[in-house]
Amino acid sequence: MLIKGKRVLVTGGAGFVGGHLVDLLARHNRVTVLDDFSVGSRQNLVGREQVAVIEADVRDRQSTRAAVEQADVVFHLATVCLRVSLSDPVLSHDVNDIGSLEVLLAARECGVDRFVYVSSSEVYGNARWIPMDEDHPTLPSTPYGASKLAGEAMTLSFHHTYGLPAVVVRPFNIYGPRSHAEGPSGEVIPRFVQRALANRPMAIFGDGQQTRDFTWVEDTVRGIVLAAECDQLLGDCVNIARGEEVSVLRLAELITRLTRSRSPIIHLRDRPGDVRRHLANVDRARDVLGFDAAVGIEEGIGRYIAWVKAHPTSGTGRRGEEVKNWEISAAPG
Ligand SMILES: NC(=O)c1ccc[n+]([C@@H]2O[C@H](COP(=O)([O-])OP(=O)(O)OC[C@H]3O[C@@H](n4cnc5c(N)ncnc54)[C@H](O)[C@@H]3O)[C@@H](O)[C@H]2O)c1
Repeated sequence: MLIKGKRVLVTGGAGFVGGHLVDLLARHNRVTVLDDFSVGSRQNLVGREQVAVIEADVRDRQSTRAAVEQADVVFHLATVCLRVSLSDPVLSHDVNDIGSLEVLLAARECGVDRFVYVSSSEVYGNARWIPMDEDHPTLPSTPYGASKLAGEAMTLSFHHTYGLPAVVVRPFNIYGPRSHAEGPSGEVIPRFVQRALANRPMAIFGDGQQTRDFTWVEDTVRGIVLAAECDQLLGDCVNIARGEEVSVLRLAELITRLTRSRSPIIHLRDRPGDVRRHLANVDRARDVLGFDAAVGIEEGIGRYIAWVKAHPTSGTGRRGEEVKNWEISAAPG
């Protein structure tokens, strides 16, 4: 099914990835964003005045139903992020599981042509083997990963039980313009770049040998749309990633070199639930979708640094707060 000339709803469309997905979809479709702006920003939709915006919580049945009613295709991205899930697993369960169920219920009732659940490589937990294919065990090590897996399971159950034409996409770590540099949503690459440019210490949790498969955001959203268009993938899932394993230490060294920074690299204690290795097997995306993530880590980091320099107010950060952002501040009740 080609996604052109469609009415498309993107939940979480004001977020980092959602904003880029909207950029791509809005070229050929009528796009509506549903977002509660808890993390997302209207800045991510600047220049997209033709995109309709509904400010609502996905858990609000009426608003979600009204938004889905107007859509042929639904991309569901609205999520509470990993770090927030560590301190507030109830909220991440509520939004990521119950919220997903609400969007699915609306999609089933309205009979949408396609439902795309944007999941996460966090559903795998630690790598049992490398590279990780879609049949790798799903044993998430964080409440976030568990909640994303619940959303996946519910999506696939709606496909099997009610015939909802649904697909699950599992992106690995994503980076690029407009990624979060500060607060609980802050990601490692934007944080390191901000700190390197300011010659402030780059803090690594643990020894830095933990690895991730970092993918340039424009590659990721291209992969998400290809997966959405693919009839063969209905009722199934697909990894979307570059397929390149990069340690956090190598990342810090690369950023130091590319920014010519004098920032020291410091090591803090491990972050709870942190996975040790992640590398995607991208055979399915390549074979079924013809997808290849074009941008390698060195090129992508270079592009991202150039973007940050051109947008100096993009994430100035609050000094001293960054390294503590994952701390478990409240014991779960
Ligand atoms: N960023 C990554 O590295 C990465 C990697 C793998 C998968 N993903 C997935 O991609 C999707 C987008 O992630 P992101 O990095 O853009 O995160 P983000 O936090 O930037 O975007 C999430 C959006 O959801 C919105 N939102 C949160 N709770 C909501 C609610 N109750 N109702 C409506 N909107 C709500 C937020 O305001 C935000 O705009 C998520 O599903 C995430 O699991 C991200």
